[in-house]
Amino acid sequence: MTSPMPPLRLVTIDGPAGAGKTTVSRLLAQHLGYRYVDTGALYRGVALAAMAEGIAPDDDAGLDRLCQRIRLELTPTERGLRLMLDGVDVTDELRGREVTRMASAVSARQPVRRFLLNLQRALGKNRGAVFEGRDMGTVVFPDAEVKFFLDAAVEERARRRHAELAESDRPPLATVVAEIQRRDRNDSSRQLAPLKPAPDAMRIDATDLTPREVVARMLAHIDRLP
Ligand code: DC
Repeated sequence: MTSPMPPLRLVTIDGPAGAGKTTVSRLLAQHLGYRYVDTGALYRGVALAAMAEGIAPDDDAGLDRLCQRIRLELTPTERGLRLMLDGVDVTDELRGREVTRMASAVSARQPVRRFLLNLQRALGKNRGAVFEGRDMGTVVFPDAEVKFFLDAAVEERARRRHAELAESDRPPLATVVAEIQRRDRNDSSRQLAPLKPAPDAMRIDATDLTPREVVARMLAHIDRLP
């Protein structure tokens, strides 16, 4: 007799910038045969669209109109997950420092959160997915079966982000530390869906762990579930 297929679950991974969520989420999704959903890319997509149209990050009416007009799709491809904005692949434009700052700013605004809440819930409808973000386990999917909160020391997170930035967009490490601290503050202190661990999340400090070690801990935790 073959053993029954495990149930399709929703896995959420929240945590601050640079904790390693993206690498770990991708690996974990691969292991589980699940879809991987990078919700930060959706906020970055809205930021990019707002910048292209000259909409200020505190212009709620402008952001609302924008959200009602744009179409965002996350498409898995051989080159990884790609973000399509109105049918155009904008993935390569999402990681710069200006888009990063704007994404943090627009993510505090109600029309943007409401728009993406609906979109994310629709993407999670069939379960069988790993969702990475800031409020996955607390707000978007409070009923997720598996929740993780991934953190790491700020110096280590800044070091990782610094290494990821394109050479032409790479400031001194101290600047990246300051930018990450500012973004942590913005993302954790905003009124709407602030970054914080869900009470039922398993917390992992990844400062001294490789992505594979983090994933091994996560899989061990999932294996122990009923
Ligand atoms: O994960 P990231 O660095 O790509 O996210 C970019 C910004 O988007 C981040 O500063 C905060 C926001 N964000 C959010 O508010 N909620 C999420 N679920 C994901 C990202």
